[in-house]
Amino acid sequence: MRRFRRLRASEELRSLVCETRISKKELIYPIFVAEGENIKSPVDSMPEVYQYSLDRLSEVLDKIAESGISGLLIFGIPSHKDELATEAYNDNGITQCAIRLIKEKYPRLLVIADVCLCEYTSHGHCGVVHGSEICNDETLPLLARMAVSLAKAGADFIAPSDMMDGRVAAIRAALDENGFANIPIMSYSAKFASGYYSPFRDAAQSAPCFGDRRSYQMSCTNGREALREIADDIDEGADIVMVKPALAYLDIVRAARDRFDVPIAAYNVSGEYSMVKAAAANGWIDEKRIVMENLTAIKRAGAGIIITYHALDAAKWLEEI
Ligand code: PBG
Ligand code: ZN
Repeated sequence: MRRFRRLRASEELRSLVCETRISKKELIYPIFVAEGENIKSPVDSMPEVYQYSLDRLSEVLDKIAESGISGLLIFGIPSHKDELATEAYNDNGITQCAIRLIKEKYPRLLVIADVCLCEYTSHGHCGVVHGSEICNDETLPLLARMAVSLAKAGADFIAPSDMMDGRVAAIRAALDENGFANIPIMSYSAKFASGYYSPFRDAAQSAPCFGDRRSYQMSCTNGREALREIADDIDEGADIVMVKPALAYLDIVRAARDRFDVPIAAYNVSGEYSMVKAAAANGWIDEKRIVMENLTAIKRAGAGIIITYHALDAAKWLEEI
């Protein structure tokens, strides 16, 4: 009989043979910045997540800086939205101002800037719309302009989440031409059309006003296609690739880890967070235990970077271990 239980006999032994450890440095926390004053507005579907205005942003930035995690992913919510998402590439837009403020006060926090038009368009789609069509090639220059504007504001990373074809190449070329050859791209390469994003769309006020995102985001049925998307983004110049959502797509994370040599990020998205929070609030699960189990699963599957709304709690819990 093989006695596996020998190495499980004490906490010390279990810790010695532990195969998967999460570091705070692997965690990234998403934040929402809204235009206006004195705003700390709760997102109903995401307990403990708020939209902040610039004047109150330091309330969450202090927590992020104290937590010891590597950085944040920033989403801006402009008050003016239009067909061409002009606020997305306004150098004095809400996201650009927030990035400047963060880099001034907290230069050591990594600021990852999400690049997509959906928070900025009046129709809520991630690209330029004609009739009922979301136009790919017309969207690319706008994304490139947005990326350059965010880099100018001081973003450490550009993270395109729109799922237009060719956007990584377009953004890379624009960054290089404008003196940002050293700004890396973290591409949402395998981003699936997912029901798990609905709480985020409350948080970012970015739900499409007609149709859905299935003509640009991937179908949850297609694992091989996800690997082609990732390969293509790496060819186009992505420095880090992302799989999103995380928990229902751990097979993609694992396949990507085995096949590619670039760093892999996974986005533990809003719906994944809200489900855990709801069950915990009802006393049906032990929140800390479930969160750490989920994050461990994402890491074990092969993600070296985890974007999660649990990051601040997890950082605390990791300290206790
Ligand atoms: C915007 C974007 C979305 C998310 C990140 N960037 C939503 C979407 O595609 O509708 C989802 C994040 C989450 O659910 O936590 N393109
Ligand atoms: Zn979008």
